Order: sequence, then C-alpha cells, then structure tokens
Amino acid sequence: MPWWEQAVVYQIYPRSFQDSDGDGVGDLRGVTERLDHLAWLGVDALWLSPIYPSPLADFGYDVSDYTAVDPQLGSLADFEELVAAADERGLRVLLDLILCHTSIEHPWFREHPDWYIWSPVDGPPNNWVAAFGGPAWSRDEQTGRWYLHSFYPEQPDLDWRNHEVVAAMQDVVRFWLERGVDGFRLDAIDKLIKDDRLRNDPPATATFPLPLRGEAATLEHVYSAHRPEAIAALAAIRSVAGDALLVGEVFQPTSAYPPYLEVLDLVFAFEFLFAPWDAERLRAAIAPAAELRRVAWVMSNHDFDRLATRVGPDNLRAAALLLLTLPGAAFVYQGDEIGLANGPGSDPPYDRAGRDAMRHPMQWDASPSGGFTTGEPWLPPVDPAERNVEAQRENPDSLLHLYRRLIAARGELQDGFGLLDAADGVVAYERGERVVAINTTANPRPASAANEPDIATHPSALAEGRIAPHAGAVTRKSG
Ligand code: GLC
Ligand code: MG
Repeated sequence: MPWWEQAVVYQIYPRSFQDSDGDGVGDLRGVTERLDHLAWLGVDALWLSPIYPSPLADFGYDVSDYTAVDPQLGSLADFEELVAAADERGLRVLLDLILCHTSIEHPWFREHPDWYIWSPVDGPPNNWVAAFGGPAWSRDEQTGRWYLHSFYPEQPDLDWRNHEVVAAMQDVVRFWLERGVDGFRLDAIDKLIKDDRLRNDPPATATFPLPLRGEAATLEHVYSAHRPEAIAALAAIRSVAGDALLVGEVFQPTSAYPPYLEVLDLVFAFEFLFAPWDAERLRAAIAPAAELRRVAWVMSNHDFDRLATRVGPDNLRAAALLLLTLPGAAFVYQGDEIGLANGPGSDPPYDRAGRDAMRHPMQWDASPSGGFTTGEPWLPPVDPAERNVEAQRENPDSLLHLYRRLIAARGELQDGFGLLDAADGVVAYERGERVVAINTTANPRPASAANEPDIATHPSALAEGRIAPHAGAVTRKSG
C-alpha cells in the first residue's frame, strides 16, 4: 500500500506558521522548529504552500524562480535541514507546484515569450474571464501584445503545448525530488491547457457546483479550462515524478475527476469542502467522491473560509471526526486543529481577492503574538489568549487532543466503506467493523449504535439510543 493511501497531510502556510528571525514573517527554520507539533499530532506528511521567490502578487503562487527559496523564507540549506528534520520524525514533505502560470517577473516571460499564450489580435481574442475577476487577457506594456492569465494579471499562463515548457517543468520536478521531496500538490491544473482555437466560453446554463467569483459564474468554462489535453501534459509530470505523490487541485465537480486520476494519485474533494454542514448535503458530496477511492478529503485551506467560520464553533469536533474517518487521505489546514476561525485580514488588504482572513498566524501560546514571532507579525494573530496550542495540549478534552486521538485511531478503520441509512440530520457510514455516526443538528437524534464508542466527540455523544447535538462517534458494529 502506498504511504499516502490513509495519510493525514498537514498544510503549512509558511508565512504564517512560525517566524524564526523576528521579521514578522514565518520561515522555513520556523517550520523546522515546530515539526514536533506535527509529530505529536501524528500526521504523516506536510504540504508547504509555495516557498519559492515571488513578488507576492498572489503570495507565492506567482513564482519568479522555481528552483530556489524565497529569501524571506530562508535558503535551500534551510530547506534541506527541514527535510532532514522531517525525515527524522517520519514526516514526508510535499511542495506546491505551480504549473499553470509563472510570475510576470519570472525571467522566462522576457527570455521565452513563446512559452506563454498571446492573443493573435490586438486585444482580447475571446470572452474568457480571470478567476479573480476581470478579463483573462491583459496588455503587456513592453510589447503591446495581449497575454492570457487565468488568475491575476501578474500571473501569465504558460503554454503547455510548447514542449520546452514541459521540459522546463520536468527539470523543476527533478530538482526537488533530488532534494528529498516526497510529492507535490499541483496547483490549478484544470486550467493547465486551454482550447487551441481560443473559442468563446458559452453562457452558463446550470449553476456550477463550486463557488465562482463575479463574471466567472456567468460562463461555462469549457474552452478556458478542463481540456482533455491537460491529462497528457500531466502525464509528462508523472513520468519524471515516478512514485512521488501527486495531489491535484482540480477546481471542478467530482464527476470531472476520473481522467485526472489516470495520471495523479489524488485530487481534492472540492464538493465536500464546500458542502454546508447539513447531513443530506454532506452525504451527497461524500458518496460520489468516496466511489472514486482516491480523493483527498479536505475541509479548508488558504483560499476559502476557515473550517471554524464555515461550520461554526459548535460543530468543530464533529467536523474533525468526519474529516478523519472518511476512507482515504485527509488534509488538515494549519490552525484547524485548535479551532482557529477567519481573522479580520488586513487594511489595506495584501490579497486583492480577500483571502487574508484565512491566513492569520498560527497561535502557539497565549502571548499577544501567539508565539508566532518576536517581531511585528505581518498579519496579527486572531485570538491567541482564547485558543492556542500550548493550552490545548494541557487539556485532554481540547479540540487539539481530539484531532490527535482521531489520527491515532485511523489504523482501526478498515476498507469497506458504505453510507448507512440514518435519521434526518445524521451522517452515518461503515468502515469495516466500525460504524461512524455524526449528528449535524443542534438537537438529539436517534442513533442505532448499541456499543460503547471507541472514540467520540463528547463524553455522552451516544446515550439511550440517541446521538447528542453536534456530536459524533465511532463504534464497533453490533454483534
Ligand atoms: C490555487 C491556489 C491559490 C492561487 C491560485 C492561483 O487555487 O490555491 O491560492 O491563488 O491557485 O495560483
Ligand atoms: Mg521570518
């Protein structure tokens, strides 16, 4: 069995995890200093959001050099130390690989303009829109030509029909594998290849099941994204990645995932991420994704509202139990294990798309800086006095301890997944000899389990044929 099949992967947003040098920005040495937190939690791997040099138009997702470390985050030597320290603790390391676009400040943009996608006319050649709003075409002031950008204008799209682009990215993959990386999270790959004839996207006829911003929601992105040719391009990445883990960010409904899984190991389950905390909606999102057998279950990341904000504080324990008992790999975003909610963000914002709120620093202790930095944090901690790792470690009833118990108990959950009939408001499923039941409502609900739970969100989660409000439990199947 590959190591990642039942793995728990912990997502680190490096700028906000731990600052080691007092400049207020998290860095790689900070990550290394805090690896014992991950080891204690029991996760199998960490995924680092981009660590490469970047002008920060999209906070690292605009890369200006794929084979270096951003000086603010550290050096290659720091990275190698991090990998060695992770290795000592049995932790695997995943990097974020941004294939779709570079930074406009990447030297490639000037040295190899033919590696990018240009309009054949003097203006936008079609109606494509950028993910963060506005047209997907901008004029390059230096040449007067129009280039494509699926995201910010500072992120010109690479042309994956050009073999030199493919070869350059294969070299990037080799570079990091040689430095001990165990896999990659592939950013925005449903936008990797676009229609070669640049046809207009037709108007949307149905509501896309995932949230789209502004005008993006008015079009059906059949030409600007999710092209079948993307699979062959990704196969070129697979061919150099060998058996390293490849997790795809495919911002598409579950039904679109099978072709990607021909070349990738996992894809994130986005319909699940966005499912409201409602039993019926959760079941509807889980069933088709579980059938694929190779989704990465995920409930939050650096792009969308934090879990505590989305499901509310009352449901955090049950959400943890759900995420960590579904069959297959699960991704936990830093801070979710202590119940960190969205913060106020920054004014003026760093991120024009409004995502600062999900990127506030990790809270390690109750001090005003949360133990994140000795300097002035780039974004302030949200509520370190109310929630922090140190206090929750001392309290066996804390959310943090529940995460740890759930991770430790994953070995008991066997194959053989099936959703079970359950009372309204309850999500229930079997995992081999175990049954998981979760009450998504604020009222007690009938539950069929008769046995004492192996693990539960609350001391009296199951009693007298009922499952308590906001509670969940894993029990042995009855006799
Ligand atoms: C992915 C990243 C997001 C970034 C975008 C463009 O969706 O998760 O943070 O803005 O790709 O690279
Ligand atoms: Mg720093």
